[in-house]
Amino acid sequence: MFDVILTVPMNDLSRGIERDRSLLQSVVDSVFDSGHVVMGPQHDAFQVELARYLGVTSAVGVASGTDALELAIKAAMPAGRGTVLTAANAGGYSSIAARRAGYHVRYADVDKDTLCVNEDTITRGLADDVGVVVVTHLYGHLTDIRQLVEVCHSRGVRVVEDCAQAIGARRDSQAAGSFGDLGAISFYPTKNLGALGDGGAIVTNDQEFAARVAQLRQYGWESKYRVTVPGGVNSRLDELQAGFLRAKLPSLDLVNDRRRAIIQRYAEAAAGGPMTILPADGEHHVGHLAVARMADRSRGRAELSKRGVATDVHFPVLDYQQPGLKGDECFLPVSEKATEEVFSLPCFAELTDDEIEFVCDAIRSLAS
Ligand SMILES: Cc1ncc(COP(=O)(O)O)c(C=O)c1O
Repeated sequence: MFDVILTVPMNDLSRGIERDRSLLQSVVDSVFDSGHVVMGPQHDAFQVELARYLGVTSAVGVASGTDALELAIKAAMPAGRGTVLTAANAGGYSSIAARRAGYHVRYADVDKDTLCVNEDTITRGLADDVGVVVVTHLYGHLTDIRQLVEVCHSRGVRVVEDCAQAIGARRDSQAAGSFGDLGAISFYPTKNLGALGDGGAIVTNDQEFAARVAQLRQYGWESKYRVTVPGGVNSRLDELQAGFLRAKLPSLDLVNDRRRAIIQRYAEAAAGGPMTILPADGEHHVGHLAVARMADRSRGRAELSKRGVATDVHFPVLDYQQPGLKGDECFLPVSEKATEEVFSLPCFAELTDDEIEFVCDAIRSLAS
């Protein structure tokens, strides 16, 4: 069907930058004109606009998603506890953040369909030393955590949502990041709302947590040069990134729609074949990654690659199997099986219709 041999990449940031060039350039100009480079008017306005978009009372800009997790965990950890319970299949970010905060990490298995933790797996992992549960809304799927949050709260445990892959996902009009005590967001350039560099934010409906993370991101200062909270760091969202994010925020819902639609096309193409696509079939999923599952993953990836379709694996190693993250012995059967079978297909809003069809053709060819 395609005479010209295409290669479809996993991502291509240059397309969005080229399309938005004049908008982004005007942000650069206004930051230069303002003379503010950190914590200035762009940053302040972005915090307000992000909080409004998510329906929360506070958003605090920080320098990355990993910093957002670290500071949210630090703010949330109840006195006398020191363990974070989280998933092991989500790229290691929560583990790294929790360790940087000085806490022990333990892992819970994931749901076999969503590959995210659920009430059951978390309840099995709760123990007296657990003070914070980090729920990663993996691949863009906003896990229904209302019950999970209740169970945690009844045991004095706080819940941090990792929304790095799920910004804009909603259940009953409520946004990811507003179900737990705090939400952590990444604006890494490939995220659904991506900066042109690093950036992150912590969101919450709790004024005390908001004040605490606002102190923690700037040395633990209560006011200039007065450190009243231990564990402070330097993690600020700069003016250029805040300005770029403000310019892109109004189109986030459209971006999420497009990503969802791409995944639905892949799912239709895969129907009846050897590969399944994790569904992204409602506003609770923002299609951050198009994730396929196939028992013979190597064959699937090799065939797609031969046909010019790039793939990747999110994520290839469980946290407790990473040499640099080793901790307690652990065996999580659902996570282990999924880690051997999942791989990701190209999914970004700037994919052309022809490219999507090209990927669908390659998917269909796996069935023959
Ligand atoms: C699920 C998840 N959590 C946290 C992060 C960390 O974000 P950052 O790269 O901005 O530190 C990422 C992405 O990189 C992520 O995918």
